[in-house]
Amino acid sequence: MKITSLTILLSCIGFHEKRDSSKSSNSDRMYQLSGDPEFHYEILRAMSATSSEGADIGELLVTAQKIKPGDFESYYAAFNELATRVHEQAKSIDGAKHPFSARNTFFRASTYYRSADFFLHGNWSDTRINTLWSKQLDAFNSAMSLLPVPGQRIILNAKDDNFTIPAIFFGSGKPGPQPTIILGNGYDGSQEEMFHVVGEAALQRGMNVITYEGPGQPSVRRYQDLGFIPQWERVLTPVVDFALTRPEVDPHSIGLWGYSFGGYLAPRAAAFEHRLAAVFAMDGVYDFGQTILANLPDPVKKLYDSRNETAVNSILNDALASDSMPTSARWSLQQGMWSFNVKSPYEFIRRSQLYNLTSVSDKIQAPVFVGSAENDTFFPGQAKKLSEALGSKATYHLFKAADGAGEHCSVGASALVNQVTLDWFEDILRRRS
Ligand SMILES: *[C@@H]1O[C@H](CO)[C@@H](O)[C@H](O)[C@H]1NC(C)=O
Ligand SMILES: *[C@@H]1O[C@H](CO)[C@@H](O)[C@H](O)[C@H]1NC(C)=O
Ligand SMILES: *[C@@H]1O[C@H](CO)[C@@H](O)[C@H](O)[C@H]1NC(C)=O
Ligand SMILES: *[C@@H]1O[C@H](CO)[C@@H](O)[C@H](O)[C@H]1NC(C)=O
Ligand SMILES: *[C@@H]1O[C@H](CO)[C@@H](O)[C@H](O)[C@H]1NC(C)=O
Repeated sequence: MKITSLTILLSCIGFHEKRDSSKSSNSDRMYQLSGDPEFHYEILRAMSATSSEGADIGELLVTAQKIKPGDFESYYAAFNELATRVHEQAKSIDGAKHPFSARNTFFRASTYYRSADFFLHGNWSDTRINTLWSKQLDAFNSAMSLLPVPGQRIILNAKDDNFTIPAIFFGSGKPGPQPTIILGNGYDGSQEEMFHVVGEAALQRGMNVITYEGPGQPSVRRYQDLGFIPQWERVLTPVVDFALTRPEVDPHSIGLWGYSFGGYLAPRAAAFEHRLAAVFAMDGVYDFGQTILANLPDPVKKLYDSRNETAVNSILNDALASDSMPTSARWSLQQGMWSFNVKSPYEFIRRSQLYNLTSVSDKIQAPVFVGSAENDTFFPGQAKKLSEALGSKATYHLFKAADGAGEHCSVGASALVNQVTLDWFEDILRRRS
């Protein structure tokens, strides 16, 4: 590719391109934590954990100042410094004397290690991918051991597959069988994050919580070298089997929550797994492959459509190697190749086409809460499509920018999201009993 045409192409490559809201005249726009819209989003996502012990605001605002827009190394350095400092502080607290203080501090350290890792997946040999992860696991384990009912790690065997499913059981502490919510993350997030996204809010309401990860997700990708699989029921069914072995779990009151790309994974699994009382697609994803194609610039899309693998790879690899690729595009592609465990952009695009609900959405039996965020730039229009395909089984809910809930997955609005979704779940369970 000649430099000029590459530059033109780069300016229109927009994998999940974020709008630059500093240029928007809309009065509902949100204060920006970075000049880089993707960095803003990820810092806000970490900040969201504040309402559930997983972050604090001031230390994130100080950290945000140290991060240079577009500079992945500066993002790592700022968060690694914060994580290391908070982790040292946590270790210096006598957990026997001050269990709440120690727990809170370990949870924050864990979140910040995850943030430090977030933009490093472009180089698969980067040893920080594993060292940061073992630190986040270590800090999280210390924190969850100090919960009123300590979290319990479990390894489940997939039935006809040779992978294992790491999970955590968080008991409600209430006597007798209780409602239980199974939480799964998406394209780039961990089960530990899910504890903060909605797990702690569910525990407060007297529910048990089970988090889990499957192929493509952080620990299965790292420790079993496995990328995503479209047939997510192969991951979810062993988790439901496990839930049903626990005396704490009311077998008729199990909910399944899928976050972000989990907005595809959860409904996909629910099409085959019918022991669920309710499903949450947060936010709804009907056809993931279509969102990937829609984000390709026209010339690349044409080359993809003609199955010109060499040209697609050459253009996108050149783009990744250049400095001018926008953060959101660079990160989406790097994270996609890493989590699907494929070496080329073309292969990532090809695999992504298998992730749609077109032929299975009618097999879903449980009621589905389909969340939608007004200004979602990752999966625009997808929640509406899923809701339409589900018909009367869907409860579509639009989270608004005016409420600070318009970002993808409504990050920054945990309290509102958890109120709306968990109230809906409790009402469904009450109506059935
Ligand atoms: C959010 O979406 C609404 C509805 O599409 C639009 O009117 C508004 O300008 C968007 N806000 C921002 C900050 O982009
Ligand atoms: C990837 O990471 C490895 C290990 O840290 C390093 O040796 C190598 O230079 C890195 N490659 C690139 C392209 O940055
Ligand atoms: C699963 O089995 C396949 C084929 O037998 C093998 O190639 C793969 O390495 C195995 N994966 C794991 C995680 O054991
Ligand atoms: C693939 O695209 C390149 C660049 O447009 C072109 O030169 C080449 O002939 C194409 N290859 C095939 C097999 O169509
Ligand atoms: C949807 O996924 C199936 C595989 O599950 C695939 O065969 C089909 O081509 C995909 N449909 C679209 C419209 O991409």
